[in-house]
Amino acid sequence: MNRYVSDLSLYDIVNVPGVAADLSHCNTPTQVKAFNGKESLEAALEGADLVVIPAGVPRKPGMTRDDLFNTNASIVKGLVEAAAKVCPKAIFNIITNPVNSTVPITAEALKAAGVYDPKKVLGVSTLDVVRANCFVAQAKGLNVKDVDVPVVGGHAGITILPLLSQTQPKTDFSEDEIAKLTDRIQNAGTEVVEAKAGAGSATLSMAYAAARMAESVLAGLSGEGNVYECAYVESSVTELPYFASKVRLGPSGIEEILGLGELSAVEKSGLEKLKPELRKSIDTGISFATSK
Ligand code: LMR
Repeated sequence: MNRYVSDLSLYDIVNVPGVAADLSHCNTPTQVKAFNGKESLEAALEGADLVVIPAGVPRKPGMTRDDLFNTNASIVKGLVEAAAKVCPKAIFNIITNPVNSTVPITAEALKAAGVYDPKKVLGVSTLDVVRANCFVAQAKGLNVKDVDVPVVGGHAGITILPLLSQTQPKTDFSEDEIAKLTDRIQNAGTEVVEAKAGAGSATLSMAYAAARMAESVLAGLSGEGNVYECAYVESSVTELPYFASKVRLGPSGIEEILGLGELSAVEKSGLEKLKPELRKSIDTGISFATSK
């Protein structure tokens, strides 16, 4: 459905032909190709401009995103190592959890292959923005099309920091509304995990958010101006080496990383609280990627 996509290569270790046959019947100009099994990974990635990685296992109730590390870290590393060989100039959109660690793993794998460009690696935190916009519009009776809430930090629990004070259009919230909305946005992934009761985590809203991010990245690559998204990227906005904040997308990928703007007292305190947790997840990712 994305007007910028001419060729869509689907890769998985099993079941790809069915998904590709299904998708290929949509009457859009996109050519869909199936790549099934590990031996077809490099062929799938050949010449890609954008590599979207949602691979890995999902959470079950009671698990944190960090509990997925042991399985998902090596999956992401393997995919990125293959991409480094055959599409080293591609932009990477990393969805696989724990995103707070898999983005540093992606960067380290690309560095080891000598092809890392920090402008081209983005952790997809778009679903946090999508959820914040949705919940704020519902709570305040606003048209959701008009609402934009920046969400910064990372993509897990308290590292997800919605900046409600910067909501567009300008909106006032009571202390109680701020506390409840912040908590709901931070735990919205868990809300889905619990509702699915062991059958996985968000897939449809995640796909919606990932499609939005992919469209923005490709719009930027195509030279469209004024393309902004929040994303988890290598950053100097705080003392942490990776951080999610608003970025401007363009022909080179990330053209500019925007600062945090003015924060409320609650947001300042949320920012300080998230830093040790985010740093731990970053360090875990870096040591995994550099020690094997
Ligand atoms: C989400 O936010 O829905 C995803 O990160 C999946 C999850 O485990 O919550």
